[in-house]
Amino acid sequence: MMKTTVCRRAHFNAAHRLHNPNWSDEKNQSIFGKCNNPNFHGHNYDLIVSVTGYVDEETGYVVDMKVLKKLIKQEVLERFDHKNLNLDTEEFKDLNPTAENIVRIIYEKLRPGIDPEHSLRVTLYETKRNFVEYGE
Ligand code: NI
Repeated sequence: MMKTTVCRRAHFNAAHRLHNPNWSDEKNQSIFGKCNNPNFHGHNYDLIVSVTGYVDEETGYVVDMKVLKKLIKQEVLERFDHKNLNLDTEEFKDLNPTAENIVRIIYEKLRPGIDPEHSLRVTLYETKRNFVEYGE
């Protein structure tokens, strides 16, 4: 039997600053550009959480969307929505909040709430055109 992927889209707004404290201001500016702005700036992040597995014969589901929705709300939205990622969160206090690092942290927050037999993939859009993917 083939597997099916179930996807849920979510959205959050957050501010960040990309900065490497080991580098000079010039190097930070040249690598991170506008995202190095000392006074932070916001992004409208779009998130797609994809869970892949076999369809359960009794429910006809891979995963209950209500459960997935609640998990995303608890683990991602309540933690990061309307936050300054650098200042307001434990996760990014010492970790540069690039899209690559944010998507991995989101994966790690969600993974314990997903059936181990299912694979999890997280896609994070920082802008309409720039997005990253992480997971199985
Ligand atoms: Ni940015």
